[in-house]
Amino acid sequence: MSALHIALLGYGTVGKGVYKIIQTHQEKLKSIFKKDVKIVAILVKNIEKYHAPDCDVLLTDDYKKIVTLEKLDVVIDAIVGKEPSFHYLQQAIHKGCHVITANKEMFAYHGTQLKQLAKEQGVTLGFEATVAGGIPIIQTLRQLLQVNNIQKVQGILNGTSNFILTQMREDSCSFDTALTLAQEKGYAEADPTNDVEGYDAFYKAVILSELVFGETPNWEESIRNGIKSITREQIELFSSLGYRFKHVASLEKEEKGIICAVKPVLVNETHPFYHIEGVQNAVSIDGDIVGNISIQGPGAGMLPTASAIIEDLVYINKPSFSPIFSNEQNRLSVKESNTYWAIGGVVENLPSHIQIIDRPHPDVLIVEASEEEIYDIQLSNIYFYQVYGKVITQNAFVS
Ligand SMILES: NC(=O)c1ccc[n+]([C@@H]2O[C@H](COP(=O)([O-])OP(=O)(O)OC[C@H]3O[C@@H](n4cnc5c(N)ncnc54)[C@H](OP(=O)(O)O)[C@@H]3O)[C@@H](O)[C@H]2O)c1
Repeated sequence: MSALHIALLGYGTVGKGVYKIIQTHQEKLKSIFKKDVKIVAILVKNIEKYHAPDCDVLLTDDYKKIVTLEKLDVVIDAIVGKEPSFHYLQQAIHKGCHVITANKEMFAYHGTQLKQLAKEQGVTLGFEATVAGGIPIIQTLRQLLQVNNIQKVQGILNGTSNFILTQMREDSCSFDTALTLAQEKGYAEADPTNDVEGYDAFYKAVILSELVFGETPNWEESIRNGIKSITREQIELFSSLGYRFKHVASLEKEEKGIICAVKPVLVNETHPFYHIEGVQNAVSIDGDIVGNISIQGPGAGMLPTASAIIEDLVYINKPSFSPIFSNEQNRLSVKESNTYWAIGGVVENLPSHIQIIDRPHPDVLIVEASEEEIYDIQLSNIYFYQVYGKVITQNAFVS
């Protein structure tokens, strides 16, 4: 029986998960591909740390030995960083291999180029694992985009920051204590900057933006705020008013281009993210026909991420698979003119043009204002967070 020959770049958490699934689900894969599905080579950096999982598998730290293999059909990228991953995948595509990547940082920077190259070379390019791990968000968006106009995408795309916020609220603890627990549990790295400052969520939002709007966000205008400035006291105050902090990435089309905002926001129980807790991820999509869809699930981890890669692998066997399609029809403006904000602190002296909706606590105002108006307020004793979803006032919902 012939075989589908696969090279695996990286043999860490994700790489090992992919290897494992290909072994444990061989019969299923065989029935799909009508041939054996084999990992023939594995690339690592420090070869002395590793043993080949099988004597038939080439374990190497030299990519040339992989890309020059006579029989090679698919290259799966599970290494870290923009380089050398980008150049390795370019070489694989030039060789005529299908490629699949989990590397969100590389794909956020070079996804457009790789998509173009894959199109020119007639190979498929899978990147489901780059956003929200095990949640099939890329396939869902591709499916929806065939007819729907997607108006807005919001996501909790980083499990570590969501875990920290959940922990701070549930245990009434500080950011530092929650971060230490996240590190002890293996959710946060020794250097948590990428997660808690929103870089990781931003990379994922860039990938979604290119898929949904056909454009990279305007880097200059986009916002990337982390969660470190949220205090235990703020969490307690807003919790008592029915709000939870969530670190949300959102994408909207404005005149300046696609604006991506990654920032802490407040949601109440009317918002689909209210119940997304711990390391879970979620994505909420507003389509003009379907309305709102929210999907939640594990955003990272060995098997969820490997599952996304294997689903991409299966798609290379489907002739109708079209990784790149026109989304011209989706270039519509979705910016709402005004939005809701919770302003806390000494809230007495707001400018008169800011419209107050509610005062649920002496130290908190809910207001309706544009982003520019909020950032223009020149008061030093206040802080503010955007409120996503409906605002519950004493007698009614404002939507
Ligand atoms: N972990 C997750 O849950 C998850 C979820 C979604 C996406 N991802 C993405 O998947 C990728 C892999 O993540 P991971 O958690 O599996 O990382 P990891 O556990 O650190 O493993 C990385 C692997 O890549 C190898 N590697 C790194 N740089 C290399 C280079 N320049 N040349 C050759 N091999 C190299 C490493 O080899 P050495 O050990 O020899 O350095 C290691 O085997 C990353 O891009 C990550 O962003 C991860």
